[in-house]
Amino acid sequence: MLELEDAFARKFQYLRLSITDVCNFKCQYCLPDGYQPEGRKSFLTVAEIARLTRAFASMGTSKVRLTGGEPSLRKDFTHIIETVANTRGIAKVAMTTNGYRMAKLANEWRQAGLTAINVSVDSLDPRMFHQITGQNRFHEVMAGIDAALTAGFSQVKVNAVLMRGLNDGDLGQFLGWIKHNSIQLRFIELMKTGEMDELFDRHHVRGALIKTQLLRLGWQQKIRALNDGPAEVFYHPDYQGEIGLIMPYAKDFCASCNRLRVSSLGKLHLCLFGDYGVDLRDLLADDQQISGLQQRLREALVDKKATHFLHDGHSGMTPNLASIGG
Ligand code: 5AD
Ligand code: SF4
Repeated sequence: MLELEDAFARKFQYLRLSITDVCNFKCQYCLPDGYQPEGRKSFLTVAEIARLTRAFASMGTSKVRLTGGEPSLRKDFTHIIETVANTRGIAKVAMTTNGYRMAKLANEWRQAGLTAINVSVDSLDPRMFHQITGQNRFHEVMAGIDAALTAGFSQVKVNAVLMRGLNDGDLGQFLGWIKHNSIQLRFIELMKTGEMDELFDRHHVRGALIKTQLLRLGWQQKIRALNDGPAEVFYHPDYQGEIGLIMPYAKDFCASCNRLRVSSLGKLHLCLFGDYGVDLRDLLADDQQISGLQQRLREALVDKKATHFLHDGHSGMTPNLASIGG
């Protein structure tokens, strides 16, 4: 099998597939004014998703994460899970969600073949949750997490974007929550995207500050396995849950990159902060085009850069993470 490998010997077994850029939340760091429709877009169909997944799987991809916008806003979402999960070679199907439909559907998704869920909870204080996400839905999202654990997801990952002055003092409360819960809580450093104005300067906090506090409290860092991706993970003997730190501004963050992205319009993005997407859609129309698709993927990977250029203030063309799925 010809695997997806780049010029820096990084291998890509993980595809992040956005299936819509529509979202019903208004997270301050992503869509502060809510989703703005621009005409009618036609997102990848189930048949196109099936072909795309088949091509990636034939080149070594074993994990697919379905993202958005909010992926569960698609009416055919359960069917998409099933389609991806039934592709030969795909062992893991994950999703990233704002959690608002999870209480109702976690079990259905699990039956369809979903193996992992990441859900955003930026604060455990319902009012702060509302302030950050623009939606007063804290209790629904928490009920969704319970539903996911009950449905049999062995661990639920929870994302919290660190924001100075908003949730950066919440570590104690978060730790209390994961003491007896099988949750991997992941603090994500705020990333500067194209549409962001002074929000970044006002609210960015370095994840390293959390790391210092964790180490002081007796948390220990897990050794990273080869294909773990960029999160640094910490555990503590007194806690059932774990903490992950995602620090895109840290040195060597990109060295462990193991993922490629495809947008809901069928463009391959080599990096979250790249300057362009490689259109794949013309090769998704029928089953006969798979070798053309494999070749385009291989050629595109030659151009994958060693790292992003966030440090130079360069956020590529990504206006917000809803447009490409984070
Ligand atoms: N910086 C960091 N994380 C972000 N997310 C969205 N926008 C940003 C940003 N600017 C994260 C959210 C969500 C996931 C989809 O992407 O935490 O969990
Ligand atoms: Fe929606 Fe996710 Fe963006 Fe929040 S971060 S607005 S939930 S796409």
